[in-house]
Amino acid sequence: MKKYKIRYQDLSVRDNLRRKNYITSFKKIMKSGIFLMGKELNSLENKIAKKFNRKYCVGTGSGTDALYLALRALSLKKGNEIITTPLSWVSTSNAIVLNNAKPVFVDIKDDLNIDESKIERKITKNTKAILFVNFTGNSCNFSKLSKIANKYNLKLIEDAAQSYGSVNNKVKSGSMGDISCFSMNPMKVLPSLGEAGMILTNNKKYYEKIKILRYVGTVNKNNCIYPSLNFKMDTLQAAFINENLKYVQKKIKKRNNIAKIYINNLTKKIITPKIENNKLHSFYSFTILVNNRDQLMNYLKGKGIETKIQHSPLIPHQSAFLKYYKKDIPNAEKIVKKILCIPIRDDLNQKNIKYIINSINNFYN
Ligand SMILES: Cc1ncc(COP(=O)(O)O)c(C=O)c1O
Repeated sequence: MKKYKIRYQDLSVRDNLRRKNYITSFKKIMKSGIFLMGKELNSLENKIAKKFNRKYCVGTGSGTDALYLALRALSLKKGNEIITTPLSWVSTSNAIVLNNAKPVFVDIKDDLNIDESKIERKITKNTKAILFVNFTGNSCNFSKLSKIANKYNLKLIEDAAQSYGSVNNKVKSGSMGDISCFSMNPMKVLPSLGEAGMILTNNKKYYEKIKILRYVGTVNKNNCIYPSLNFKMDTLQAAFINENLKYVQKKIKKRNNIAKIYINNLTKKIITPKIENNKLHSFYSFTILVNNRDQLMNYLKGKGIETKIQHSPLIPHQSAFLKYYKKDIPNAEKIVKKILCIPIRDDLNQKNIKYIINSINNFYN
């Protein structure tokens, strides 16, 4: 394997205090003998609900679980349609199809998020919800989405897997959906040390149904009312997320500082994300749009810089979704060939950042 000078990500735990606190939590949990859900999860759910000003929060085994359960709460029927984006991790559309519904893909804008102006023409009598993604950590325009949802009586489901900490016009990601879903996998801005996710809602009916569905569909040990799988969060992951909550705002700030340096110093021959006054971007990824993407990626590899393409191919181009592909997503098709994610780890030092900038600029000069 190529040895990189700058890895895209380094998930090893190097901070001594954090490591010590993780171990203390683990010891406490071993002593308690409670490994599933438990008081660490209760405390996390309460904290997250309060932080996002939501009535209810449910911890799940992953972000994929969260999306699946969010749609399951809508009691979809075969033939129902869910409007969504073609550019996301495949979990977004898997959640739709696994609920017997049909994904209806709407093209994206240059900011990589669903194009709100193209949603209405895709709404039919079968449409039940819009499942939008705050891609890369750049949150969608909630007021435009909610106007459409209200006009057509649709539910808004927010895939906030990449956007913990993002804000758009004072609306926090995590507060945008009738049901909002986070992922806390180790790559995410607020991570666990394994798999974890969360659901937020203000709707009691959804909350109660999701809680039952999370635990194989049982209301208590003696009665299963909606057959389901096991979507519980481990106590240990909840404890790790509680610890990581202490650092998340600082991490987002550092990522924004790195993003500013990139934006100010990278060649104008590439397109960088924007930092906008009315928004806070969590910079889950720093995704640039470039010509000759594959050559640049290889060139950077030669310089010891690891980059990623997130996420290609587009969902409707993947085997399981080809039947939903309507050849009407030209912007997504153009953009996906140009996407490149460069490292935006909060531990990048000035020398690393300069080296990345100079390497990219040299490629285009
Ligand atoms: C946009 C998006 N949706 C859903 C998921 C699924 O989350 P998880 O990996 O926690 O299942 C991810 C995670 O990669 C994601 O980036």
